[in-house]
Amino acid sequence: MISSSAAGPGGAAAPAAAPQLPTSPAAAAPPPALGSLRQRLAAAFQQSLDAAFPSMAGEPAIVNPCNNPKFGDYQCNNAMGLHGKLKGQPDAPKNPRAVAEALVAHLPETGMVAETSLAGPGFINIRISPDWLASHLTTMLRQGISTWAPAGYAGRRVVVDFSSPNVAKEMHVGHLRSTIIGDTLAHTLEFCGADVLRLNHIGDWGTQFGMLIQYIAEKRPEGLNAASDEDVQDLQVLYRAAKQRFDEEEAFKQRAREAVTELQGGRPEYLQACAWQRICDASRREFQKIYDRLGVQLQERGESFYNPMLKPVVDDLMQRGIAEESDGAKCVFVEGAQIPLIVQKSDGGFGYASTDMAAVKHRIETEKADWIIYVTDMGQSSHFDLVGGGGRGHGGGGGGGDGKKFRSRSGDVVRLVELLDEAKQRIVDTVKERRPDATPEEIEEMAAAMGYGAVKYADLKNHRTTNYKFSYDDMLSQQGNTAVYQLYAHARIASIVRKSGRDVSELAKTARVVLGHEKEVALALQIARFSDAVDECLAELLPHRITEYLYDLSTAFNQFYTECQVVGSPEEDSRLLLCEATALTMRTCFQLLGIQVLYRI
Ligand code: ARG
Repeated sequence: MISSSAAGPGGAAAPAAAPQLPTSPAAAAPPPALGSLRQRLAAAFQQSLDAAFPSMAGEPAIVNPCNNPKFGDYQCNNAMGLHGKLKGQPDAPKNPRAVAEALVAHLPETGMVAETSLAGPGFINIRISPDWLASHLTTMLRQGISTWAPAGYAGRRVVVDFSSPNVAKEMHVGHLRSTIIGDTLAHTLEFCGADVLRLNHIGDWGTQFGMLIQYIAEKRPEGLNAASDEDVQDLQVLYRAAKQRFDEEEAFKQRAREAVTELQGGRPEYLQACAWQRICDASRREFQKIYDRLGVQLQERGESFYNPMLKPVVDDLMQRGIAEESDGAKCVFVEGAQIPLIVQKSDGGFGYASTDMAAVKHRIETEKADWIIYVTDMGQSSHFDLVGGGGRGHGGGGGGGDGKKFRSRSGDVVRLVELLDEAKQRIVDTVKERRPDATPEEIEEMAAAMGYGAVKYADLKNHRTTNYKFSYDDMLSQQGNTAVYQLYAHARIASIVRKSGRDVSELAKTARVVLGHEKEVALALQIARFSDAVDECLAELLPHRITEYLYDLSTAFNQFYTECQVVGSPEEDSRLLLCEATALTMRTCFQLLGIQVLYRI
């Protein structure tokens, strides 16, 4: 599940926040982000709406991509709604069309809009000016693609809670999916200038430890102090053996429960060099194998981190009357929820929910988060609804629960490292065939980029709420919407630029993009829409907006390249810049998706 606080940026046009420019004159500060294409147009329509209908000022301007590109690139859809709201006022426009005409008449001069046309009851179709697009691209090539970041994210403090496997239990595909999606959301937020804290909320404090520690203790008559790495060498084996005993022997179950209380109460031999630490270290080494392959960085801050905060948090909730006693347990009853959030069990123990309550408080109060994003499996949605509700009552703001959920395949446990390595191994032959000259290191690099990239892409391209079928053949295909296809497409453009023998970064300093051919205009528009894709990805927490965008970009490039000669044409300078802008935008997408870029395949 992904949930975000209600404070997450909505889809509405958010005018650029005042940029924080560094004061040092030496730092060549990039110009402030003016927002995505859609945000800029919405800002223009906002001005026109406020000016044309002062009584409606502040009513948000609605601009969306046009459904049918034949009619326009974008569309403003305010006229019908405004007409309804203005009804009965003196001088109210007589129909939505009249509203639309007034909006067009008041549109400020931005240079962005080439033409508008009215359709249906009052839709305003907007065509972006090719000249404006040409200089938009030229400027981007000179100042960097970060100047295209959508507005509304810079400077925000965002916690992304993702991956978060459980110690001693295996990491499963649900965790892999969380790792991949969370990493993309974090990259995308970082690209937009947010201050991101990537947290791995590892399950390192749960009831499984009582079972494991007690099992080790009883296997070693000398006691826990004699425990060694051998005991935790194979966590799967240890876990299974302990679990079996736990399920079969009532007395052991009881001792295991007591062991958890000992552990959580901080008894040193349970915690340190012996059992708990050893188990966590062994698990950590396993998880790290996955993170290394995926190139994912995140900070471990497991459940145990919040242990000292649990009692004060529950006391505080009780004192404020947010939590109350029910059947001996301390519970938060969240409005509208069927079941309460149990923050302290009747035996005095704390659980998953208590920890998450403490985590919300810590993240808001200490980490100063203004947005907390959880990426976990769908099964936990009601938990986060409760934590969000309880958390809001508690610290103001709050963590979860605006209904953005993602379902992951859980259940069948797959050996993830093998799964990743198999994807890599399967592409090796293709790589060798295409690049017989490549050194073993190059083959390794290419296979890793394509194999691991393929797994990520296959995951990210699906809507996060849908399950999908895992198929090596599909994900490693060189055709269609796959990482392999995209990496080839990028390498091909890079090779066009390389073979031209021109230094495009030098060229970009003096030459300009000029758009004449219809396919040039279409490509330029598609490149510029990158900022919309980034905004949509974050506003809706949907990484597949980026993969969809990337696919449309490759398609637009192919259509351009089929019809427009680049090297040796009179338009060579401008067309090389278009190639470079395409390649740069693709590389930026790869970076957001966590895919290693390749220049030669
Ligand atoms: N460890 C949990 C699991 O495997 C996920 C933790 C998600 N994050 C959180 N703050 N609860 O399902």
